[in-house]
Amino acid sequence: MRKSILTLLGIGGLLSSCSNMDHDMSQMNSGSETKIVEGQFNTPLALPKTVDFKNVHLEAQAVDGAWAGLGYSANGLLGPTLVARTGETVQPKLTNKLSEGTNLHWHGLSVPVDQDGLPEDQTAAGASKDYSFALKNRAGMYWYHPHLMGSTARQAYQGLAGLIILRDDEEDKLKLPSGEYELPLVVQDRRRSGSGYKPSMNEIMTGFMGDQISVNGIPSPVHQVKQGVYRIRLLNGSNARTYNFALSDDREMTLIGTDGGLLAAPEKIKEVLMGPGERVDLLITFSTADQGKELFLLSKTFDNGGTQGTQSFKVMKWTVSDQKGIDYQVPSTLSAIERLPSASSTFPFVLSAPMEMNMSGGMGMHKINGKVYDKTAYETTVKAGDLGTWNFQNTTHEIHPIHIHGLQFQILERVGRPLQATDKGWKDGFVLLPGEQVKIALRFSTDKGRHLLHCHNLEHEEDGMMLQYLVE
Ligand code: C2O
Ligand code: CU
Ligand code: CU
Repeated sequence: MRKSILTLLGIGGLLSSCSNMDHDMSQMNSGSETKIVEGQFNTPLALPKTVDFKNVHLEAQAVDGAWAGLGYSANGLLGPTLVARTGETVQPKLTNKLSEGTNLHWHGLSVPVDQDGLPEDQTAAGASKDYSFALKNRAGMYWYHPHLMGSTARQAYQGLAGLIILRDDEEDKLKLPSGEYELPLVVQDRRRSGSGYKPSMNEIMTGFMGDQISVNGIPSPVHQVKQGVYRIRLLNGSNARTYNFALSDDREMTLIGTDGGLLAAPEKIKEVLMGPGERVDLLITFSTADQGKELFLLSKTFDNGGTQGTQSFKVMKWTVSDQKGIDYQVPSTLSAIERLPSASSTFPFVLSAPMEMNMSGGMGMHKINGKVYDKTAYETTVKAGDLGTWNFQNTTHEIHPIHIHGLQFQILERVGRPLQATDKGWKDGFVLLPGEQVKIALRFSTDKGRHLLHCHNLEHEEDGMMLQYLVE
């Protein structure tokens, strides 16, 4: 296991040589993850209600008595799941019934820059905004959440998030399990103490983690399934926690899709590491032999040289009934994926936490290429529709789930661990472990203007680990 840079440098000496920091460093050198306390697994799972994306009206509001505090619907669970077909034009409306500003970002969708929910695009308390854009993405599961500077992490933690499901002809042909056999699951960690959100310095380093798991807004749920195949679509909607999902009896799952839709071919996996913002599309078979057994979706420990992954915990429980569900034979080809080439030159992004790497001070500890977010600055300028190769390097002891706006890209190479099954599909985010390097291939959007690139550990993002690239 790699040693963290913090350990290698000897944190004590480093801190005492640092005079111009305005933070209390004493609580920062013991960054550790918040431990999960497992629940009872007796509350039934619910699915967020499904609505047509086309003219949806989302009302951000305080939800009385809800665990998380805020919501896009009065029931206090997640926002509705917005469903549409590729190629349609949608006109969602946001009404802000909060007592503070907010906005909406359509995570994973390629939309014009003025529809993307940039950190400065504020819909003030009491105001509304009408969005309008064409759906250019493939069939897949995307999601929406606020992206307002200074409020993203808190508002998302307090419940402002929801799913987007796009369908298209290519996916329809596969006749994948649907209806009750298709289960979208949003996994989030929250605090049993309630909706309060006030990260300490240490929680800015690690990200704000909860001590209980919720699925679709329900703490530690249980779901009864029939004997057959289910399409299980997972979003890690947590602020900071990375999960290593697996089933409690270690059975094989079939990975059929990632952030940007279906893979070219199915992949057999037993576990899947997912950082905040990432999605996977899985087929899981429950059989006659499972009847009466207790099966769990788990997050298993994982080796990463950082502060996460030290605990294995249950996420939700499955019980298998005596009823027959459906059979499904997964085809050996799922979709056509054009492989993007690796260019000879790559643009570098180095992620650092300056308390380890340098002591230049400034407002943020989390930086990319030595900088914190600046709405007037572009790290690089690219041509609309051009190909590019970018290289990311993590020099910190924390996991950074990288997310890029405006496109879906492909992972070419990892230095630090082998390519993962999820690296074979279209992605808008990926996990960059401590010490790891990842090279990606991109085809830049034809939507000109500012696009964001940031860490989707939302506390890191708020702390400055975000920058912009310009498409012209
Ligand atoms: Cu889901 Cu820029 O974020
Ligand atoms: Cu995004
Ligand atoms: Cu980060």
